[in-house]
Amino acid sequence: MLKLGIIGTNWITQQFIDAAHESGEWQLTTVYSRHLARAREFATLNHATETFDDLDQFYSQGSFDAVYIASPNSLHFEQAKLALAHEKHVIVEKPAVANQAEFEQLDECLRQHPDCLLFEAARQIHEVNFKRIQAQLAKMPRIQGATLTYMKYSSRYDAVLAGEEPNIFSLKFAGGALQDLGVYLAYDAVGWFGMPDEVAYYPTLIRTKVDGKGVAVLRYPSFTVTLNVGKTSNSFLPSEINGLRDTIVMDNAAELGQVSYHDDQGTVQSIGVKPDKNPMLAEARDFAAVINDPAGHRSEYQSWRQLSRNVNKLLFNLRQSGHIYFNDAERNQPDK
Ligand SMILES: NC(=O)c1ccc[n+]([C@@H]2O[C@H](COP(=O)([O-])OP(=O)(O)OC[C@H]3O[C@@H](n4cnc5c(N)ncnc54)[C@H](OP(=O)(O)O)[C@@H]3O)[C@@H](O)[C@H]2O)c1
Repeated sequence: MLKLGIIGTNWITQQFIDAAHESGEWQLTTVYSRHLARAREFATLNHATETFDDLDQFYSQGSFDAVYIASPNSLHFEQAKLALAHEKHVIVEKPAVANQAEFEQLDECLRQHPDCLLFEAARQIHEVNFKRIQAQLAKMPRIQGATLTYMKYSSRYDAVLAGEEPNIFSLKFAGGALQDLGVYLAYDAVGWFGMPDEVAYYPTLIRTKVDGKGVAVLRYPSFTVTLNVGKTSNSFLPSEINGLRDTIVMDNAAELGQVSYHDDQGTVQSIGVKPDKNPMLAEARDFAAVINDPAGHRSEYQSWRQLSRNVNKLLFNLRQSGHIYFNDAERNQPDK
């Protein structure tokens, strides 16, 4: 049984712990929170025994094998780096990093700690329906583009409207629609079509100077993919990938609840399965499998790292195109 430590005590951490326990591969042992009382509350609820409010002690004294990091985006890098320095495996929530420079530095840390593994918790790539779409695409004679939408009103936008700056709508915490829901769409695009040749992002900026919503255009050699992302309004549009006369239709490009294939005769067939009740179950199983047998899963792990690298590069390039900068160093950087 692998031992799990956690950073962040919001609902998403609880969902990951539930998935980890359901997988039968993990046991939560160690909780970090900025507030010891909160760490204890979370630990009691989940039968963990170790609690910390000091990050260095958490890493040096905690008995866990891997940390799951679900803190605000801009903190991921330092917390992941520190974990590697203490020889812990890392599962870091999406987006793994705030920019390319951070990704490269984590790669360097991984080279210095070759026994450690680092996973970006991009849950949808581990789910069956994502792979079903990949398999269907391989059978389609021609792809002519895709329109992928993920727009969900965030209750935290109410706080923005009330004059506050919640983390997810803050430049300081590397927030914004693209960095949040846009990560799912970026994983779809890169996972299904590879890296585009050219990209542009047209953000709708909000008072806090991040993108509340936006449209990204990804140019591939023979087609274009459009991403519609937003946290300041709702969209009920399905998403689709256009073949020649055939089409793949998804109820939602991130949740992938229902996926169907409309063939060239107009026949519609479901190509998906009913998703797991806990959408993080598949990734919890996959991460455990790789940690338990790294040699046996080397190529799978490397393909996830490469996908993560490309997705984070795409997000960075899109932000550059939309003139959204998290710090001065990001300004005037050439696209990489
Ligand atoms: N995969 C998914 O489906 C999914 C869904 C939602 C979110 N996420 C990702 O999970 C991460 C966390 O998102 P969230 O919405 O839960 O973020 P959040 O509520 O802003 O913060 C998460 C946790 O970080 C700690 N924290 C909050 N503000 C902090 C600050 N100023 N300094 C240091 N620590 C702070 C808090 O834990 P303590 O108070 O205990 O220290 C909090 O519970 C993000 O990277 C997000 O993209 C993923």
